[in-house]
Amino acid sequence: MSRIVHLNGQFLPEEQAKVSIFDRGFVFADGVYEVTAVINAKLIDYAPHMERLERSLRELDMAWPCSRQELRAVHEDLVKHNDVEQGRVYMQVTRGVAERDFAYPADTPTTLMAFTQIAATVANPRAETGVAAISIPDIRWKRRDIKSIALLAQCMGKQRAAEAGAYEALMVEDGHITEGTSSSAYIVKDGRIVTRPLSNAILPGVTRRALMRLAADHRIVVEERAFTLEEMYGADEAFITSASALVLPVVAIDGRPIAAGRPGPVTRKLRQVYIDAAVAGA
Ligand code: PDD
Repeated sequence: MSRIVHLNGQFLPEEQAKVSIFDRGFVFADGVYEVTAVINAKLIDYAPHMERLERSLRELDMAWPCSRQELRAVHEDLVKHNDVEQGRVYMQVTRGVAERDFAYPADTPTTLMAFTQIAATVANPRAETGVAAISIPDIRWKRRDIKSIALLAQCMGKQRAAEAGAYEALMVEDGHITEGTSSSAYIVKDGRIVTRPLSNAILPGVTRRALMRLAADHRIVVEERAFTLEEMYGADEAFITSASALVLPVVAIDGRPIAAGRPGPVTRKLRQVYIDAAVAGA
C-alpha cells in the first residue's frame, strides 16, 4: 500500500501528489517547513512547532495555508492513515505557483504539502552507541532562525559527514559551534550543559526548548553561551537534539573520542526524561 500524503487540502497516494514546476518552493526555495516527532502515534510538542511555523511565515510575509484546526487535522490524519507509531510528520508551505520573478507575487495561494516518515526514533540503537560528528565551516545565510526549506548548505554538510563515516556535521563560525546541520548542539562540562543562546545564528529548536525546561526541573544547570570546537574536544559529554534525533549522544568529533568515547550519564538521563515527558505530555 502506498503512503498517503497531503497536498493542498487533499489526501492522496504519494504517486498522485504533483506540484507545478513554477511553484516558488521549487524555483526559489521560497518556503518554510516543520518536522514534528511522532511517538506512540502521538504528535510531540505540536504547539511549539506551530508557534515556530507562525514566526517563520511572518518573517517571510507568507500567509497560513489553512486554519490552525485544519493543519492539526492534516497532521493527525496522516499519522492515522499511515499507521505511524514512531517517526515524524514533515510539512512545508511555499509561496505557491507564479511566473518566475524574484519579488513576492501578490495574493498567490500558498502550497501546503505534508507527509509522514516511519523511523525508530525511540528504539534507536544509536542512542546506545552514540554517534560520531565532524566539524565544518558554517557557510549558511544570516537568518538561520527562519526554518527555511533552503537547505543546500546543510545537505553539503551532511554529505561530508556521511563520507567521513559520521552521523552529523557540526557547523563552526568564528571558532564557535553554531549547531548541527539538522540539530541543536550541546556539550556537558563539570555537570553543566552548555548550549548556544538563541539568535539569528541558529534555529530555535523545539526539542531544545523542551530540554531546557526539563533540565531546570531536574536541577541540571544550563549555561546559554557560545562554545568553541576546542571546548567540545575537551568536553565530558556532547549531544544533539532534534525532532528526529530526540536526544542523541555525540561520542566523537573529527575522529577524536569525547572523554571515554561513550554516551555519558547526563546525556543518558536527558534522553530518558525527554522521552518520558514527551510520551506523558503528548
Ligand atoms: N531539523 N537546527 C537545525 C538547523 C535543524 O534543522 C533542526 C531540526 C534543529 C532542531 O530543531 P527541532 O528540535 O525543533 O527539531 C536545529 C529537522 C528535524 C529536519 O530538518 O529534519
